[in-house]
Amino acid sequence: MTRTLIHGGLVITASDEVHADVLIEDGRIAALAAPGVLTADRTIDATGKYVIPGGVDAHTHMELPFGGTFASDTFETGTRAAAWGGTTTIIDFAVQSVGHGLREGLDAWHAKAEGNCAIDYGFHMIVSDVNEDTLKEMDLLVEEGVTSFKQFMAYPGVFYSDDGQILRAMQRSADNGGLIMMHAENGIAIDVLVEQALARGETDPRYHGEVRKALLEAEATHRAIRLAQVAGAPLYVVHVSAMEAVAELARARDEGLPVFGETCPQYLFLSTDNLAEPDFEGAKYVCSTPLRPREHQAKLWQGLRTNDLQVVSTDHCPFCFTGQKDLGRGDFSKIPNGLPGVENRMDLLHQAVVDGHISRRRWIEIACATPARMFGLYPKKGTIAPGADADVVIYDPHAEQVLSAETHHMNVDYSAYEGRRVTGRVETVLSRGVPVVTEREYTGHAGHGVFTPRSTCQYLN
Ligand code: URP
Ligand code: ZN
Ligand code: ZN
Ligand code: ZN
Repeated sequence: MTRTLIHGGLVITASDEVHADVLIEDGRIAALAAPGVLTADRTIDATGKYVIPGGVDAHTHMELPFGGTFASDTFETGTRAAAWGGTTTIIDFAVQSVGHGLREGLDAWHAKAEGNCAIDYGFHMIVSDVNEDTLKEMDLLVEEGVTSFKQFMAYPGVFYSDDGQILRAMQRSADNGGLIMMHAENGIAIDVLVEQALARGETDPRYHGEVRKALLEAEATHRAIRLAQVAGAPLYVVHVSAMEAVAELARARDEGLPVFGETCPQYLFLSTDNLAEPDFEGAKYVCSTPLRPREHQAKLWQGLRTNDLQVVSTDHCPFCFTGQKDLGRGDFSKIPNGLPGVENRMDLLHQAVVDGHISRRRWIEIACATPARMFGLYPKKGTIAPGADADVVIYDPHAEQVLSAETHHMNVDYSAYEGRRVTGRVETVLSRGVPVVTEREYTGHAGHGVFTPRSTCQYLN
């Protein structure tokens, strides 16, 4: 048994900040102690650094099939990039195709991920076809640690569920303990607006943002909340970008409903200004829900501070500008939806600490602890405490870096944050005690990361 000691750092969790040494044994945190008390075979010096739990990114799409192409990060490249950015767990989305079972979809995603990941991973299940068989399979998946299900009020003909299908899945999850995650946009109305925009010759990427109206996100958010209330089920709304949708969540929470919201760095740091960049550059910023005008950002930060939003994940779904985003030249509706970001989340949120939007502990709470609790991984993941997996990041809060496609590790030919200066940088990353990044060198390997079954939501109690 090797004992590793992380010495001299400031240990930050969602609840505490303490100068302590962290002892790791057999891949787990064994103890926290006053600096200098413990000894070990190997010591990592963290003097002047933060010692934080590895990030938990609860929303990624490695290799997602979308719009006739596939997200450009594989589980191998995407989890390596995640590790570089201080994330040690991802929860990716397995997909049920219409006419096929959940099991078949989940098996296919296991096959993509197994043996290829640098860090631990779990799965949510995208439910595209609610029927009696699907509902029974949901129970089985919950038992084997796939305890959350994404449904779409958007993308008619692909992932879309109607209100009846949503209600039935919610009723089932109320029984089996699963958590419904909702893509809340009124896709039926949006498709009408898309058709009308294209008929007017409005084909540029910026029209993606105009037709996918904030009101249609808010309307769908409201409807999802009320369907969940009728079903007696909790609800987690993914990738919230509109302030009107935050208001719906806040109102429901004030009513005492178990309703939760996630936002993503792109909505906090980017805006419709990016979607309007000339020469088709706006395509780099096409995702759904779309980027919003700048004034929405303040309401998202506020929601994160007041706990009307609980989680920041990336919705990492990269498509190369050349060869993939290109598919939508002359028709914005054919641009594959999604942004890269799995490597940037911890740094961008640290920048939010530097900028005064959130506290250090809230940084860890929204990026590590709450996603772990929300999706049944706590305290194995998301904290630094005796018994937890030794998923630990040594973070230099003073290092300066410039985000760029030249230096990132995601398999995509652009950065959504190209040229952005941030203060703070990952130095060393341990996954279950194994150094995956060591003083800015990649020391991990594909296959180290394992599938991690999850319990049901731990944020309800
Ligand atoms: O644009 C996005 N968000 N692409 C990924 C699929 C989804 O809806 O989350
Ligand atoms: Zn979505
Ligand atoms: Zn997504
Ligand atoms: Zn290994």
